Amino acid sequence: MHVLRINGKNRLHGEVEVPGSKNASLAILSSIPLTKGQIVLHNVPEISDVQIKLALLEDFGAKVDWREGTVFIDCSGFKYHEPDETRVRPIRTSFYLLGPLLARLGRAFLPMPGGCLIGARPVDFHLKGLELLGAKVEMVNGCYTASTEGLHGAEIYFDFPSAGATQHLMATSTLAKGVTTINNAAMEPEVVSLAQFLNSMGARIEGAGTSTITVTGVEELGDCTFNIPADRVQAGTYLLAAATTKGDVTVRGIMPEHQTATVNKLREAGADVSEGPDWVRVACDKRLKAMKIKTMPYPGFPTDMQQPMAAVLTTARGNSVVEETIYESRIGHVPELNRMGAKIRVEGRSTLIEGVSTLTGAVVHASDLRAGAALCLAALGAEGETFIKNVHFIDRGYDHLEGRITALGGEIERLDEETWERDYAHRLKPHN
Ligand code: EPU
Repeated sequence: MHVLRINGKNRLHGEVEVPGSKNASLAILSSIPLTKGQIVLHNVPEISDVQIKLALLEDFGAKVDWREGTVFIDCSGFKYHEPDETRVRPIRTSFYLLGPLLARLGRAFLPMPGGCLIGARPVDFHLKGLELLGAKVEMVNGCYTASTEGLHGAEIYFDFPSAGATQHLMATSTLAKGVTTINNAAMEPEVVSLAQFLNSMGARIEGAGTSTITVTGVEELGDCTFNIPADRVQAGTYLLAAATTKGDVTVRGIMPEHQTATVNKLREAGADVSEGPDWVRVACDKRLKAMKIKTMPYPGFPTDMQQPMAAVLTTARGNSVVEETIYESRIGHVPELNRMGAKIRVEGRSTLIEGVSTLTGAVVHASDLRAGAALCLAALGAEGETFIKNVHFIDRGYDHLEGRITALGGEIERLDEETWERDYAHRLKPHN
């Protein structure tokens, strides 16, 4: 159990390179049972979600070798396996293995997935789609059992453009006989990355990145070497770190077009933002202006940036409204930011933020991954020391966060349980 100690009010400045995308990596790793080939993935982020996913793949017979950002996977030996619930529950994308395992082996078994507690997160679109593709899926005692006599192409429509269902069904249908069309598909960059990965193994996918995706089934997929693109949410978080510390940070190795929503909102709030072919720079020397934000599917403002942006707006001049339209309860950051002196209240799907001049350090608890990121941002801009507990949530999606923040001039350190208890816990009085 680690604790992050952050001493705020250091102006972050300099350049930061962002590691590979969590959500692209997880979608790609979910699809690899489709191939019997050899996979090489470069720029894989060192985060716990990826570690968990690779361990799960090993349970199914994959041979994995992870060396400094590159993962080598021998996919020749996938076998039927019934994983334990504790292996599957920690990450939601464990469920996206169901279709690819089914396409490869004709049957599959998976306990229900878990993931961050930010809403109900049903999987009905996935299940409907798998059934249209020719799978029979049953849920018994909290576990899914799927079987098929052979997958075939289908016409699929989503009531909402789900990133996960688009990725899961697009991948599964690569080995289905005939043509599959996915309508009202998600347009997230991670869908495009997955399609590129699958196509480089021999799949025939067209339209990824638009709302209609067409997949023409092939007999088999082969080997592939693929470079995971940069993580747009980690990138966005460092851009917000510049804003919240009145700093000047250039984030490199990214696709600026994936930051459009965040960048435009930062400009609206008064930050100075410039962009190049593979970088974005945010400089800010004054208090930001309050504003309205509404999360939307890509290319709208990303839900994954909602909590971090709310943290930045706690000290903006005026009243902000942040409306969350994707998840019904992505609000774990609110009580913790209020402990730091923020003035936020929740009304329905919106958080109403009355800007204060500064936050002050406190002992706070991360309730999920992006709430943890929000607390880091708040702490970087706050007066004094903040101690963030439940760091394992942040480790799910931020790769070497302390190293990157330190290199930018921030004061952040990871305390182990013993150091926390010995040097800090007794002299701090946690608010309850
Ligand atoms: N939905 C359904 N039924 C389904 C699937 C989704 O009703 O079968 C609903 C969800 O409940 C939600 C909405 O559709 O209200 C969107 O969910 P989506 O399926 O797009 O989300 P996801 O695939 O489960 C991924 C990311 C999330 C990110 C969302 C939206 C991964 C591993 N997760 O989740 O990332 O918030 O897309 O962009 O790719 C994070 O990184 O912190 C994170 C939560």
